[in-house]
Amino acid sequence: MPRVVVFDEFGGPDVLRIVDDPVVEPQVGEVRVRIEAFAINPLDAMMRSGAPLVAGSLPHARLGVEATGVIDAIGLGVVGFGLGDAVIITAIADAGGRGAHAEYTTIAVGDVIARPSELDVVAAAAIWVGFSTAYGALVELARLHAGDTVLITAASGSVGRAAIQVARALGAVPIAITRGPGKSDELLAAGAESVIVESEENIVDTVHRHTNGAGVDVVLDLVRGPGQSALLHATRTGGTLVEAGFLDERPTPQPADERVTVVGYRGFEYLAQPEVIKRMEAFLHAGVQRGILRPAIDQTFDLDHIVDAHRRFDEGLHAGKKIIVVP
Ligand SMILES: NC(=O)c1ccc[n+]([C@@H]2O[C@H](COP(=O)([O-])OP(=O)(O)OC[C@H]3O[C@@H](n4cnc5c(N)ncnc54)[C@H](OP(=O)(O)O)[C@@H]3O)[C@@H](O)[C@H]2O)c1
Repeated sequence: MPRVVVFDEFGGPDVLRIVDDPVVEPQVGEVRVRIEAFAINPLDAMMRSGAPLVAGSLPHARLGVEATGVIDAIGLGVVGFGLGDAVIITAIADAGGRGAHAEYTTIAVGDVIARPSELDVVAAAAIWVGFSTAYGALVELARLHAGDTVLITAASGSVGRAAIQVARALGAVPIAITRGPGKSDELLAAGAESVIVESEENIVDTVHRHTNGAGVDVVLDLVRGPGQSALLHATRTGGTLVEAGFLDERPTPQPADERVTVVGYRGFEYLAQPEVIKRMEAFLHAGVQRGILRPAIDQTFDLDHIVDAHRRFDEGLHAGKKIIVVP
């Protein structure tokens, strides 16, 4: 029987265990995917540890929202895909029941796209969540345009790195923020126009220096917390700050700056819209073909080492690059 990662209580990586579970036959409009590789995301660690917003159904809860694989069975009414097609999973809203930390999952056909042939299995497992969040927040929500300047927090993370690439693909100018000096060169090489090291520089002064005092057009805030006030001061009047992450668990002050529009991005709302998926897919395929959209990979584990993979993620040793597990 196929192997699945489950947990019966919330907690650290040690709560994860591998069990044998029967495959689920696809119903009308569903496909079963034989998973070739999956990635670990902050949402997985939150689900596993019982974060209130995402607490799943225990016991025997699954997890995992990002993976790639091959279609292995097809339900009635499925068009556009056939057995053996290579796909990327775009959304698993019910990760507690159908999570991708497994050898197989059965999901709606609308939750997969064709895998670009230019991506190997590891890159294909690592690209979607970061890319789709960056694209959704910057293009669909903030309407980032060529020539705009965008300030990106947690720029070394998977969403942040993707945001640098998406901004460049649009002809916009990305300014990256990192907490310490260690990743500056890497972020410049990844496409950032400039890098602000938070521990050494004043964000507002540096942004104003880069924008002739005007401030940035758009902020992608993946961190939130008390640091958001400086981001608002660094935004031009009429600009937009998109809250898309929450890496800083401390409270975020209520925005008192009415010069700037503050909006929240929730991926699953956008990923439920087929026309948005189509636009994301077209942008992704074009960017991958041109070689300008690529995920950064940290390390690959086999399924037997799923606890080690989660431990590495929890300890932040991945430094924002993707940890991949190959079942
Ligand atoms: N809205 C959505 O639909 C959506 C979708 C996907 C992800 N997200 C959220 O977006 C955020 C980023 O996700 P990700 O996958 O890019 O994360 P990640 O790859 O794990 O990013 C980690 C990076 O964030 C930076 N960071 C800044 N402040 C941090 C802090 N307080 N704690 C830990 N790291 C911090 C670190 O870079 P430096 O050391 O260089 O500062 C670190 O390398 C998460 O909160 C995630 O839940 C939201």
